[in-house]
Amino acid sequence: MKTSIRIKLFMGIIFFIFVIVGLSWILNTKYLETYYLEKKEQQLIQYGKEIENTFKNDVENISTELGRIENTLGGNIIIISAEGDSVYHTASNGRGGNGFGRMGMGIPLSKKGIEKILDGEKVLETFEHPKLKVKFLVHALLIEGNNILIFETSIGAIKESVEIAKKFHIYVGFIALGVGTILAIWFSKRFTKPIVELNKVATRMATLDFSKKYKAKDKDEIGQLGQTMNYLSDQLDGTISKLNIANEKLREDIEKERKIDLMRKEFISSVSHELKTPIALIQGYAEGLRENVAEDGESKDFYCEVIIDEAEKMGKMVKDLLNLSKLESGNTTLKMEVFFMDELVEKVYNKYQPIFKDKNIHVEIKKEGKNFSIVGETSKIEQVLMNFINNGIDHIGGEKNITIGINSCNETVRVGIYNTGEAIEKEEMEKIWDSFYKVDKARNREYGGTGLGLSIVKEILKLHHSEFGVLNRDEGVEFWFALRKGD
Ligand SMILES: Nc1ncnc2c1ncn2[C@@H]1O[C@H](COP(=O)(O)OP(=O)(O)OP(=O)(O)O)[C@@H](O)[C@H]1O
Ligand SMILES: [Mg+2]
Repeated sequence: MKTSIRIKLFMGIIFFIFVIVGLSWILNTKYLETYYLEKKEQQLIQYGKEIENTFKNDVENISTELGRIENTLGGNIIIISAEGDSVYHTASNGRGGNGFGRMGMGIPLSKKGIEKILDGEKVLETFEHPKLKVKFLVHALLIEGNNILIFETSIGAIKESVEIAKKFHIYVGFIALGVGTILAIWFSKRFTKPIVELNKVATRMATLDFSKKYKAKDKDEIGQLGQTMNYLSDQLDGTISKLNIANEKLREDIEKERKIDLMRKEFISSVSHELKTPIALIQGYAEGLRENVAEDGESKDFYCEVIIDEAEKMGKMVKDLLNLSKLESGNTTLKMEVFFMDELVEKVYNKYQPIFKDKNIHVEIKKEGKNFSIVGETSKIEQVLMNFINNGIDHIGGEKNITIGINSCNETVRVGIYNTGEAIEKEEMEKIWDSFYKVDKARNREYGGTGLGLSIVKEILKLHHSEFGVLNRDEGVEFWFALRKGD
């Protein structure tokens, strides 16, 4: 089982209090009585010395002193002359005491004790009252004028005091335990709170969560540790964030690299695929010519026609590819100029006039608003227009209408090339901008498209930071782009 530091500390303090209280209780019960007796003995000896020094064979002189000692001592003082007469007696002085003096029991000393005194020795002994069976601590000594000075104090009283002290100690022990427990709870809580907090911060840090910070403001070692942890957390956060960003970038780079590699492979396979058909046709028709398969002049003309046509397609494709790779290389710098969009549309329209006529296509230019001046490279925008118009022609259907709308908006001029025909499916709308992508391959072959037109348009418009897109309109499709205004 996991024991928290708080409980450990609490238990430790409680154990410590128990030891102290227990030890003091044991010492009390065992040694308090002995200690008390010893102290009493020393006290008696001390008083003995005092009286021995002050007594000049005249009791009256020191009676006040004697009274004081009796009261402090809680016992009796007896002075007996060499002849055995009582010179001083607590009882005769009407003061307390319940010892020999009062009871008139004679000298409270053992025979041995009396002998020792008479020999001039000092006596300290316990003496049991023959009748009362009460023990006394007795100190006797010879003082001036061969008088015998006797102190007696009841051991029973001493024992009683000790018992009271012991009882009191038990209360003290309980109070100490109670107060100690409360203090232990408070202290262990107060002391471990920052550690628990630190642990929480560290645990979060271990899971790379640096949002939690150590908040306590203590200036002690734990407070310092907390500040260090916060610093460490910030540093780690910063470093790991940087590392994550670098990692993310690396991942993106790798992904980009992978995509580029894939694109390159797809590109090569597309190019070779696109070249395969015209090369095969050229080869086949050339061989046919060599082997004189075509006998009459007309057939020969047709063979040559096919070869020239296919070679032209190959030429166009190579030109488009070169164009596209140049645009994609990122080395193209646009020759920006301000020109009028409507004028450029007019120019392109005029170029296409014969084709429109030939193909029976009705074309309309619709202008809305004023000021169609825009910024861009004219020839490149012309290329865009031509590609959209070519596509419009190639995919025209229905009523064979093409509408070129020029719209002057707030900051841009929007151009939309609409042709009647089949709509483009939602999922194709993104893909048609990719190189070599064709929705209907058979149809493409018919009009000879390679699927590079829109990729070139996309690159050109991207270079112009222009917005562009395709929309399915009523009965047709609209390709649009918007260029920044010239003023
Ligand atoms: N106006 C349009 N209507 C319907 N589909 C279109 C239109 N314009 C483009 N598309 C579709 O988008 C594809 C890609 O067009 P893109 O111009 O890139 O190639 P392409 O016209 O086939 O060949 P290229 O332009 O290289 O001669 C086309 O093959 C066609 O399927
Ligand atoms: Mg095209």
